[in-house]
Amino acid sequence: MVAIRDILLPFCVIILSVFLTSCKNENKMNLKINIIPQPHSIKVNTGSLDLRLINKILLNTGSQKEQVVAQFFQSFLNPINDLKIEQFSKQSENYILLSISDDLILPEEGYRLKIENHSIVLEASTLGGLFYGFQTFRQLCDLNLDGGSLPKNSFVPECVVEDFPEFKYRGMHLDVSRHFFDIDFVKTYIDMIALHKMNVFHWHLTDDNGWRIEIKKYPLLTEKSAWRVDRTNEPWKNQSPPKENEKPTYGGYYTQNEIREVVEYAAKRNIMVIPEIEMPGHTSEVFAAYPSLSCTGEYLPVNPGSYWPNTDIFCAGNDEVFTFLEDVLEEVAELFPAPYLHIGGDEADKLNWKKCNKCQNRIKNEKLNNEHELQSWFIKKIEKFLLSKNKKLVGWDEILEGGLAKTATVMSWRGMKGGIQSAKAGHDVIMCPTSHCYFDYYQASPEHSPEAFGGLITLKKVYSFDPIPKELTENEKELILGAQGNLWTEYVQTPQRAQQRVLPRMTALSEVLWSGPDKNSYESFYARLSHLTERFDKLGWYHSPGSFMVSIIPDYNKENKTYKINITSEKPGEDILFTTDGTDPKRTSNIFTSSISITSKTTIKAAMLNNNHELGPISEKTIYFSKAMGKNVFYKTSPSDRYPGSGNLTLVDGMTGTTAYNDGYWQGWHEDNVEVVVDLGTIEKINVVSASFLESQKSWIFLPSSVKVSFSNDNNIYSNKKIIKIENKNSNSKANRQTFEINEINVSARYIKLEGENLRKCPEWHPGSGGKTWVFLDEIIVE
Ligand code: ACM
Ligand code: ZN
Repeated sequence: MVAIRDILLPFCVIILSVFLTSCKNENKMNLKINIIPQPHSIKVNTGSLDLRLINKILLNTGSQKEQVVAQFFQSFLNPINDLKIEQFSKQSENYILLSISDDLILPEEGYRLKIENHSIVLEASTLGGLFYGFQTFRQLCDLNLDGGSLPKNSFVPECVVEDFPEFKYRGMHLDVSRHFFDIDFVKTYIDMIALHKMNVFHWHLTDDNGWRIEIKKYPLLTEKSAWRVDRTNEPWKNQSPPKENEKPTYGGYYTQNEIREVVEYAAKRNIMVIPEIEMPGHTSEVFAAYPSLSCTGEYLPVNPGSYWPNTDIFCAGNDEVFTFLEDVLEEVAELFPAPYLHIGGDEADKLNWKKCNKCQNRIKNEKLNNEHELQSWFIKKIEKFLLSKNKKLVGWDEILEGGLAKTATVMSWRGMKGGIQSAKAGHDVIMCPTSHCYFDYYQASPEHSPEAFGGLITLKKVYSFDPIPKELTENEKELILGAQGNLWTEYVQTPQRAQQRVLPRMTALSEVLWSGPDKNSYESFYARLSHLTERFDKLGWYHSPGSFMVSIIPDYNKENKTYKINITSEKPGEDILFTTDGTDPKRTSNIFTSSISITSKTTIKAAMLNNNHELGPISEKTIYFSKAMGKNVFYKTSPSDRYPGSGNLTLVDGMTGTTAYNDGYWQGWHEDNVEVVVDLGTIEKINVVSASFLESQKSWIFLPSSVKVSFSNDNNIYSNKKIIKIENKNSNSKANRQTFEINEINVSARYIKLEGENLRKCPEWHPGSGGKTWVFLDEIIVE
C-alpha cells in the first residue's frame, strides 16, 4: 500500500491551473484558468484582454442563434458595459465576434474561443457550440460578474480554447412528484445544467405522489391528482394516510403555458427537455381522478409518502386506459419538441395484473405467456403510438423484461447490466446506475448529513464513473449515448436541498461526460472545483460543502484473522489525523500514511482539517473481535427487503451501524420480532452476549421491548434463557445506538438465539401513534 501522503503531495504541486503573471497593468492580478468541465485544448498566451475596452458584440451572419448567444454575453457583461449587438461589417477593434458557420471543423457542440489583446472571437457550427463557448468565457472572468456586479479584475487571459464534448447525452433528471418545485426553481435547475455544459433536462412529471402537468382533456389530473394531504412534518416512509374529509393542500402543477416557457428557456441554453409520463406502475395518483383506469377500479387518494408494496397499476386489459394514455401523450408530444418521450416503465408490480380478469383475458387474446410479456405488449403499443407522433420511446431498464420494444432507448438504472444487454441488442442506452448517478443518496457520512434516500455516493465516486462498459464491442460502445444524474425527491423538500444534493456531484458528472472519464485526475478536478463553488456562491446556489468526513475502511482477512484498516478522504492534500486508543484525534495525533493492522478490539477515530483549518467531524469505528465473527447466522424472521444491511454477515462482521438507519450496516424488522440464531460451528464456552439496537424515534425506530438470549447444542432445544426488559420512553432525542449486554452466562453451546420483541405500534405519546414500528439490529458480540 502506498502511503496516502506520498500520493497526494505531488498532486498538490502539479495543480492543473495555469498561472499567468501580468506586467502591463497594475490592476491585473494573476489570472488563473480553472474551467469545469476541463476543455479538450487550451493554449494560453502571455497577454490579457481588458474587458472594459470591449464596446460591441458583432454577429457574423446575424442568425437567430448568434442573437441568442449575443444576449447572454450582453447581459453577463452588463455590469462593465452596455454592449450593442451589431451585424459584422468591416474590421474593427475591441469587439466580441460570434460566428456560426459550417466551415469550422469541430464535432457538433464544439467551439473555438480565441481571446486576443483587443478582441474575442467565438466560432461554432451550432447554437450549442456557441453557447458552450460563452460558458467557457464566463469561467475565465472574475466571479463578481456572476453575481451581477462590477468585477474586481476586468482582465481575461489571451488564449485559444478548442473544445467539444465526449458524450452527446449529458443529462440531469428532476422528480417533481414526490415534492413539487415551482417554475422559477425549474429554470434555476436549467441554469445549473447549462453552466455545466450538460444538454438534457429529464423532467419526471408524474408519479404516485402527484401529477404535475396540465392536460386539457383530463382536467381532474390537475384538480385532484396534483394534490395530497400535507404530511411535511412526518418522516417520508411513515407519512400517515389521509383522514376522512381531510383537504389535500400539498402539491401543484405546471400549466401548458409554463411548460412552453420552460422548454423555450431550456432551448436557448441548448438543453433538450424530455418529459416523463410514468406507466404502467407508479401511477396511483391517477386513480384519485380516474379510478376506472386501474385493475381494481377503486378510488385512491393521492398518497403522502411512499407505501410498500405499491401494487396500484394501469389495467392493461382495459382499452380505455390506452385511449387515456394516447390522449395524454398527444398533448405532451405537442408541448415538447424533443425527439424523445420517456414513459417510465420501472418497478411495476404485476400482482394486480395476475388477479385481474381483464388483464388475464388480454394475455390470452394476445397469446402472451405471462405478465412480463403483458408489460412488453403494453410498452410496444405505446411505442407504436409515439412513433406515429414522431417521438422515440425512452424507458427505465425494466422495459427489457418480456421483450424490448424495437426502437426503444433504455435508461439503465439498476446497475449497468440493463444497458449492456440493450446495447448488445442494438438499442441506444443512457447510463444512470444507482452506483454512481443517484444524487438522492448520501454524499457524506449519514451521521453528519440531512436525511437522504440511503446509500452513499461521494463526489470522488461520481468522478470515477465510466459510462462505457468494458464488455461492449467498439460498435456497441457507440450506442451508449451518455449518462444522467438522477434526483428523486422523497428526501428533497426544498429547492435549497435539491441544489445541495446535486452540487457538486453533477459537476463531477459533467466533467466525466464532457471531457471524458479518466481524462483528468480527481485531484485536478478538485483544485478547479473550489473556484467553481465560489461562482455557485455568487449565483446564490446552495452546494454541499463536500465531505470533510474521513472514511475508515476495514478489510477482514479470514485466514490470519486480521483487519486491515485504511483511512481515506475526499479532499486531496489534507492530512488525516487518527487515534486507536479511543480518544478524540488532536492536531498532534498521528497522521495516517499507510494501512493499519489490528487483531483485537479497537476503536479508531479519525478527522481532517476543514476549510477553517479546524479539526472537522470525527469518524469513528470500533472493530470487535468476537467468537461470532464471520459465523453463520440463521434468520427465523427475515429483515425487511428495505433494510437488509450488507447481507448474511451483517450481524457478525465485527462492525456496528452508525446512528443513521440507512447507512447499510443495519438490518431492520418492520412490525416483526427479531429472531436470529448464530451458529458458532462447534460448542464453545460463552460468557458474554451483547447486541446493539438503534433508537431513532423520529423515524419510527424503537428499541425492542425485550431482548432474549438462549442457547442450544442442536438448534432445537434452547435453554438458559436470559431476558432484558426495555421501556421505550419518549426520549425525543437524536438517533442513538444502544448495546444490551448479558454477562456471567457461563454456558457451553454451539447455537445462540437472539430475540428482540418489536413494539409493533407507535406508543400514544408518539406523533405516529398506532403506526407500525421498526426494530433495527446490528452486530452480535459473543465472548
Ligand atoms: C427508478 O429509480 N425507479 C428508476
Ligand atoms: Zn387489469
